[in-house]
Amino acid sequence: MTAQDELAKMIDLATPFAVRAAVTLHLPELIDGGTARLDALAGAAGADPDSLRRLLNHLTSIGFLAEPQPGTYALTDVSRVLLGDDHGAARRWLDIEGPGTKMDLAYAGMAHSVRTGESAYATVHGVPFWDDYGADEELRLFFGRVMAVHAWQTGPVVATECDWSSTRRVLDVGGGTGALLIEVLGANPHLTGAVLDLPPVEPEATTALKEAGLEDRAAFVPGSFFDPLPTGYDTYVISRVLTDWSDEDALRIMTRAAEVVGTGRLLVVEVLAGREHAKNNSSFDLQSLTLLGGRERTEEDFTALARRAGFSTATTRRWDGGLLVVECGL
Ligand SMILES: C[S@@+](CC[C@H](N)C(=O)[O-])C[C@H]1O[C@@H](n2cnc3c(N)ncnc32)[C@H](O)[C@@H]1O
Repeated sequence: MTAQDELAKMIDLATPFAVRAAVTLHLPELIDGGTARLDALAGAAGADPDSLRRLLNHLTSIGFLAEPQPGTYALTDVSRVLLGDDHGAARRWLDIEGPGTKMDLAYAGMAHSVRTGESAYATVHGVPFWDDYGADEELRLFFGRVMAVHAWQTGPVVATECDWSSTRRVLDVGGGTGALLIEVLGANPHLTGAVLDLPPVEPEATTALKEAGLEDRAAFVPGSFFDPLPTGYDTYVISRVLTDWSDEDALRIMTRAAEVVGTGRLLVVEVLAGREHAKNNSSFDLQSLTLLGGRERTEEDFTALARRAGFSTATTRRWDGGLLVVECGL
């Protein structure tokens, strides 16, 4: 490939949107279900046949689909990745008409983020991400589901491999719809707990706790982790929150935990770039920056934050796949 070809590939925006349009029109599922000819696909997808053919031309040219006979389309290994229940969250994110696109479009403001270190969301959408999240129910529910889907990376290990024997009450700070707390309480019947999150999250969190059969042992506490946190818990958890914030804001959140932790502990839970996706970590980092004004951090960065927030101990444990737990005490 010449340098010019490489550049053309780097700057091509048609491809990421063509894949999203294919997902939005359910083309992989339709083809997988046997609807493979152009006219039939157009009918099933509700698409203009000529425009769909032009989309399919591009999707075959990039290897997302194949065209074994003229006008008949087939999946490739690439498009097959998107099928199946375990890729439902990925499909929802790629749905061009869904809230994932709103989040992706923050990239259009990347230069602003690089100039200022701040989220670009407001420059693109006119309102900061967390304000929009509070006001736009579809965006909030989508984000909450994405977080809950990813809790498999944290919940089972934190629930069973961290020591909960000296804990009685747990507060999951910024705990979303409670996926992590549900795992922890499920595996440790002696515990009770609560999720603290922004007030708009209450309905879906309360429903999730109830559906998990935990309404007697778990509650939702509306609030902000930038305000003083409730006392009376012996383990505070901050899971996958700090990455959403700048160092200054992450320090404010950690300091709120240090104010109330007393003789208990704070567990900072994060999933760092594992070997598998280390090569993409620069991409996650730019997403954190442009969408939220946040950043990816290393184990050392988290322990340094803990010390700056006033914790005197910060003991780390790592698991394969990138899970990191930093246990902090005063
Ligand atoms: C990336 S999610 C992490 C959710 C969950 N802890 C997990 O591990 O999947 C960030 C969470 O922070 C919450 N959040 C954002 N701003 C907040 C604030 N000021 N106070 C409390 N929670 C906040 C969001 O509602 C969301 O649930």
